[in-house]
Amino acid sequence: MQATKILLSDAEIPTRWYNIQADLKTPMPPPLHPGTKEPVGPEALAPLFPMALIEQEVSQERWIEIPDEVRSLYALWRPSPLYRARRLEKVLDTTARIYYKWEGVSPTGSHKPNTAVAQAYYNKQEGIKRLTTETGAGQWGTALSFACQFFGLECQVYMVRVSFEQKPYRKAVMELYGGKVLPSPSPQTAAGRKILAADLDSPGSLGIAISEAVEDAASREDTHYALGSVLNHVLLHQSIIGLEAEAQLQKAGEALPDVVVGCFGGGSNFAGFAFPFLRHRLIGDKRDIRVVACEPASCPSLTKGEYRYDFGDAVGMTPLLPMHTLGHGFVPAKIHAGGLRYHGAAPLVSHVLHAREIEAVAYHQLECFDSGVLFARSEGIVPAPEATHVIKGAIDEALRCRESGEEKVIAFNLCGHGHFDMGAYQAYFAGQLQQHEFTDQMLEENMKQLAGMPTL
Ligand SMILES: Cc1ncc(COP(=O)(O)O)c(C=O)c1O
Repeated sequence: MQATKILLSDAEIPTRWYNIQADLKTPMPPPLHPGTKEPVGPEALAPLFPMALIEQEVSQERWIEIPDEVRSLYALWRPSPLYRARRLEKVLDTTARIYYKWEGVSPTGSHKPNTAVAQAYYNKQEGIKRLTTETGAGQWGTALSFACQFFGLECQVYMVRVSFEQKPYRKAVMELYGGKVLPSPSPQTAAGRKILAADLDSPGSLGIAISEAVEDAASREDTHYALGSVLNHVLLHQSIIGLEAEAQLQKAGEALPDVVVGCFGGGSNFAGFAFPFLRHRLIGDKRDIRVVACEPASCPSLTKGEYRYDFGDAVGMTPLLPMHTLGHGFVPAKIHAGGLRYHGAAPLVSHVLHAREIEAVAYHQLECFDSGVLFARSEGIVPAPEATHVIKGAIDEALRCRESGEEKVIAFNLCGHGHFDMGAYQAYFAGQLQQHEFTDQMLEENMKQLAGMPTL
């Protein structure tokens, strides 16, 4: 029988994370203090993050040791399987060989626990008692609630209101893991009250929920903040996905893939999967490897956003980050891929996109769901709405191979399952999914808020 799953043993869980900062051709621009416009030092971040994570944020070391306690928790679901998508290949009648890394096998159903466990661990080491965070689709809030209970930490989650309403079971599962959940914007914080005063029916956004969680953490000594994406240390922890996938492809008898694809919200699953492969392009042993990020057309930070300094949150509480952005005040349309509704992009991903080392493409939600349903009917797995974007991207690449007859190896990251997203599939089958367009006029309007802020 031909192999469908390529598996590694527990002993083969990587012992080190990969830090792409060591291989960048030009150094990253630093985060800036919004008042002084000077680079922020570690002390400015200390009220929010433990020192170990701040050090990882700026580290130039290529490999960073994974603590044993984190690795042993990883063993609950890692190494995750790599699949050869034989049935999808057949349906597409493609000459490409398609592989996907399946992160939905984690207890919470996505890639998010890879960093949640690490962040909870380092906070516990520093004596912190409570973590706050934002969540969009609910995957990150679930992952952090899951991780916090292993380390006896309290977890307060601000959940984007539209997802809170669309996905009631997500709240239930966060509570099952001991997390506390509030819909955002909430009246509990000054940031939330400010948004509600302007729009009582605000659907919320990741940017707004981040403002609330940061404000909450900054106001208490025993509390830190945990971010589920965007920052360098989060991308670092997620590199375990790509490192495993590289070993698995080798085991399957493949050299490095020709095309690497990931869906893009803030950038953590994309970078976690892609950066270990991108390394080979950067160091020159496979310059022609193509790395493609797939984002929603309604929130196209990489394909339409400007590369400049902006706040990571909606209200302006974070340092200024160098990133592709649609403007921190932008509230994306209520698409079902809640985890992709973020105005900005990880600085590391923005940096390599700016250097033309990666590509980006934007898709509408309807064509993504078409691809997600085709995938479920050929491979059997129900993808999260976010993950349907990468499936669409991989299918497009495979169809191009069918046209050209090329036998490329396409590898993509299937970042999560959609078992809590049935409302989205129901809407799809009822013909109720809407097409949302992001216009130049919207960009122009959002950018007005950034006037006077430093550019790159
Ligand atoms: C399943 C899934 N995929 C992707 C994302 C997007 O985040 P990131 O771009 O950081 O991977 C999320 C975020 O919540 C998610 O839940």
